[in-house]
Amino acid sequence: MDYQAVMDAIYTRGWAIVDDFLTAAEVDALRGCLPGEWQPAGIGRDTLHQDNRDIRRDQIHWLEPDLGAPVADYLARMEALRLVANRMLMLGLFDYEAHFARYRSGDFYATHRDAFAGRSNRRLTTVFYLNNDWRPEAGGMLRIYDDKDQFLMDVSPRGGRLVIFLSEEFPHEVLPANRERHSIAGWFRVNGYGMGRVDPPR
Ligand code: OGA
Ligand code: MN
Repeated sequence: MDYQAVMDAIYTRGWAIVDDFLTAAEVDALRGCLPGEWQPAGIGRDTLHQDNRDIRRDQIHWLEPDLGAPVADYLARMEALRLVANRMLMLGLFDYEAHFARYRSGDFYATHRDAFAGRSNRRLTTVFYLNNDWRPEAGGMLRIYDDKDQFLMDVSPRGGRLVIFLSEEFPHEVLPANRERHSIAGWFRVNGYGMGRVDPPR
């Protein structure tokens, strides 16, 4: 991957798409780490009793290195990306959290932002796709809007593709898929009060 080109793109327009971020074999290996158990996705951090099926219907499983070597490798690549982003863009990214997501036929995620200024420490979103042979008729596009809520682009969730964008700037949605759709959604976060942390210091 050309880190310089990716960082330039994020700096100038706020997003980048990297096709073949991983090889087909590496994508297969990651798909082999998909968990047997999933939890319904929430909205925000604490939505235990909130029925959010009108907003999102995917199921998730948080990534941990012990899910397998391919997952540990993926997290290591994200760590490398974090360091490059900090060096080239001075984003002050502190850590990374990510989950597998599974959209079954008919599942979607309505338009949302991943972070709101001053209310979240998520700064940079990554979405990586695990789907072989994704065809247009399968739906499930990632539809991205600009900061003024105008349509920007549709991104097909094809295997090996990595999408990166500034978490606060781009509303987006996942259109209903009509076959099973797998991704890894992740967020680089900043740390500390005064940098957008939700909780004030004790
Ligand atoms: C998310 C998200 C997009 C996708 O999980 O917040 O927007 O294409 N995912 O899976
Ligand atoms: Mn999102």
